[in-house]
Amino acid sequence: MPTRSPPTRYSAVAQTFHWVIAALVVVQFVLANLEGDLPIGAHKLALLARHKSFGMTVLMLAILRLLWRLKNPPPGLPAGMSPLERRLARATHIAFYVLLFAMPLTGWMMSSAKNYSVSWFGLFTWPNLIGKSETAFKVLHATHEILSDVLLAIAILHILAALKHHFWHKDDVLRRMLPFFRPDKVKSERRS
Ligand code: HEM
Ligand code: HEM
Repeated sequence: MPTRSPPTRYSAVAQTFHWVIAALVVVQFVLANLEGDLPIGAHKLALLARHKSFGMTVLMLAILRLLWRLKNPPPGLPAGMSPLERRLARATHIAFYVLLFAMPLTGWMMSSAKNYSVSWFGLFTWPNLIGKSETAFKVLHATHEILSDVLLAIAILHILAALKHHFWHKDDVLRRMLPFFRPDKVKSERRS
């Protein structure tokens, strides 16, 4: 029976998940920062409602992405990467997946703890995950904030790594995550 050779670039589905979720994460930071500077009022609540709707969209997309990813292995890393770099790359990707769940879940639970409704663009309302509790709200608020700092730090590391691959090592790591680009030459090996 013929064996399927490992892919040499991310598929269109993987790329779509990656860039749509990355864009939504940026939107989340922008909305949170805009909203954070405002006094309590209609404008602040509208931005917060958008933040919650886009955040719940990230959660739904993260579930689909993870299910899809478990069935579709990614291309291997370039052969020249050291074991430490491989471990770092893998740890970063796992941390991203964890945070793409943890950020929306802590936000959703934080709102539930205040008994504030979480609507999805006004189309429907998500049920409360936990009961009303001021202590739980404080803990979840702090957790959401700390995790957002961790997410930001990992994203910066991740972007610097992608740029380093592209401009320093001149390999295909960035190109194969970009639509419309074909790899120059395949320098990848199966992911260990
Ligand atoms: C990927 C998803 C998400 C990201 C990246 C994200 C990011 C952030 C950031 C950066 C902040 C500001 C933290 C600070 O004060 O320094 C924040 C605050 C907040 N987020 Fe999220 N969030 C996400 C999802 C959600 C969801 C799904 C909800 C609710 C259903 C939510 C509810 C809130 C609330 C209530 C605040 C506090 C606002 C305030 O105290 O003014 N977030 N979020
Ligand atoms: C906050 C936004 C971002 C998130 C949450 C994110 C998340 C991820 C995740 C989870 C993976 C692993 C994909 C998998 O194997 O399933 C990945 C791969 C990748 N990302 Fe991002 N990413 C973000 C932003 C970016 C940006 C801005 C760039 C470009 C500068 C980028 C470039 C890449 C590349 C090149 C890969 C493939 C790495 C490899 O082949 O091992 N990402 N990203």
